[in-house]
Amino acid sequence: MSLTPRQRVLAALEGGPVDRPPLWLMRQAGRYLPGYRAVRAQNSFWTVCKTPELATQVALEPLALFPLDAAIVFSDILTIPDALGLDVTFGPGEGPRIARRLRNVADLAAWKTEGIGGRLDFVAAAVSHLRAAIGPERGLFGFAGAPWTLYCYIVEGQGSDDFRAARTLLHANPEVASAALTTLADVTADLLETQCAAGADVVQLFDTWGGLLTADEYARFALPAIRRITSRLRARGRRTLVFARGGHHLLPLLKDSGADGLSLDWRTPWREARALMPSMVLQGNIDPILLLSSPEVVRQTTCALLDDMRETSGYTRCIVNLGHGILPETPIESVRALCDTVLEAR
Ligand code: CP3
Repeated sequence: MSLTPRQRVLAALEGGPVDRPPLWLMRQAGRYLPGYRAVRAQNSFWTVCKTPELATQVALEPLALFPLDAAIVFSDILTIPDALGLDVTFGPGEGPRIARRLRNVADLAAWKTEGIGGRLDFVAAAVSHLRAAIGPERGLFGFAGAPWTLYCYIVEGQGSDDFRAARTLLHANPEVASAALTTLADVTADLLETQCAAGADVVQLFDTWGGLLTADEYARFALPAIRRITSRLRARGRRTLVFARGGHHLLPLLKDSGADGLSLDWRTPWREARALMPSMVLQGNIDPILLLSSPEVVRQTTCALLDDMRETSGYTRCIVNLGHGILPETPIESVRALCDTVLEAR
């Protein structure tokens, strides 16, 4: 069976036969790569995102170095809060900061939703520029943040271990929380639709902070917002994956997310997820920390994952990826060991 990388990605998404599972890596363009660091030395993070030539240049670097089956558009989940007028900055050496935090209904009323599509045009421009550069034979992922994770940053104003302000507001003012999540879902659905129309084969929702919620909270607040997005995209024939970090306890809920597939974090056992979801696409789930240990450990772990995929699914509806984004300290040799092992899969 001789498949182009894109055919392999599409076959995995559609449940067709594959020679081996397709491979890409979350955050595959980033600070672990020398070319990326060189571009960032000359340009701010937002400039890279908003200049299609630069966004394409950094998105191509991992494809030039490794035999990956798909590119992912270079962008960020915080494009939406920024386009809402909340003033998102990335200071040197620190995480993101959001100046206009969500506290109450007046803050929500100040969100600039009108004309937001135009302020996010650069994302679709980056997708179509990247599609033109990779041609028709490589897969292309678009993405956005899941509403709950965006809400976390918007309420907290910055990264956090526990997002206590965000979780407090859920219960102190559930009406404001729900209204904010609904607005975020609508804006996100539109953004993802424009990415598909610009050439993305599939879009992934990153719910990086989903695992902070109990299953009941997730069912009440986070899942309805995700379903609002997936139902709109599904109606237009678009494909979606959902990644919920720390989402092991949420698997029964995520099964009903309306997505085509789930991206598993490194703590979620592959076989357990497959047993629960025989007909969903599953992606994952190598611990990114292991890439900091040694190429031999990466090889063993990748082999074990491939065994799980082959024995439970005959490689059908499987995508090899990490269980979270690649870390800035990751040695190139580890990434190479992972890719080589997948290429040797039989
Ligand atoms: O995979 C790719 O190559 C696409 C790029 C991508 C970025 N952000 C670029 C980026 C993707 C898929 C994201 C998603 C994203 N952004 C998430 C969800 C996925 C995850 O990793 O949990 C989140 C929570 C964010 C928000 C965000 N953006 C944070 C917390 C930070 C700072 C911390 C960090 O890791 O640097 C960013 C900045 C950011 N987004 C960088 C990159 C490459 C680093 C910016 C820099 O060059 O300094």
